[in-house]
Amino acid sequence: MSWLRTFWASTVGKKTVMAVTGIMLVGFVVAHMLGNLQMFIGAEAMNKYAALLKSTGELLWVARAGLLVAAVLHITAAYQLTMINRAARPEGYAKQEPQASTLASRTMRLGGVILAAFIIFHLGHFTTGTFHPAFSETGVYGNVILGLRSPLVAGFYVLAMAALGLHLFHGAWAGVRTLGLRKRSADPMYRRLSMGLALVVWAGFTAIPVAVLLGILN
Ligand code: HEM
Repeated sequence: MSWLRTFWASTVGKKTVMAVTGIMLVGFVVAHMLGNLQMFIGAEAMNKYAALLKSTGELLWVARAGLLVAAVLHITAAYQLTMINRAARPEGYAKQEPQASTLASRTMRLGGVILAAFIIFHLGHFTTGTFHPAFSETGVYGNVILGLRSPLVAGFYVLAMAALGLHLFHGAWAGVRTLGLRKRSADPMYRRLSMGLALVVWAGFTAIPVAVLLGILN
């Protein structure tokens, strides 16, 4: 397994791990967003879907474990790459004016931290019910409606979804480059695809807290 250690020790290895685990996380996020959009079909559809997921038993735990491993690897590689970057320039720039960076690329770390905080809150909110005002084991539809009625909580969801959108936009674009899928260096197609993915995911998730706040979902 020494090749694995050598691979992980290199920056290219860490970036590849980030890209591969990023793809796994994007897969989950897109599936979760599509599942959540059933809120707009109605309580019965949403609750049936949640019950179906829970009925998969061991498979659900395998998926959860895979997701957790992917998230831990993704965050650890990001942290270590940040430390390597800092060590290469310990004093920072005297005057930092972004050259070729975008808002999305400059907010990757802050966005990542907001997302990590969101996920911890979110699991306590809708999965364990710890932070929920009226949690029901079987009524997922009601959990979402009652859980997002507070403007403060819904606002946090909207903020976190903006962070997710920006994170996905830059992450998908950077991941494509890491894996060498981009043929020409200036090919804007992958940039547009990354933006399209980020916009769809952002809009699909954000629609829910906004619809609850506006009383469209109730
Ligand atoms: C408006 C946005 C969102 C809504 C309404 C929502 C809703 C839900 C609900 C209702 C559950 C519980 C499902 C159940 O127990 O049957 C859940 C679980 C979960 N959500 Fe979300 N979610 C949102 C955004 C996100 C985002 C952006 C992420 C990740 C980046 C995420 C990650 C998770 C995870 C990891 C679980 C636990 C899945 C499990 O192991 O059972 N969610 N979500």
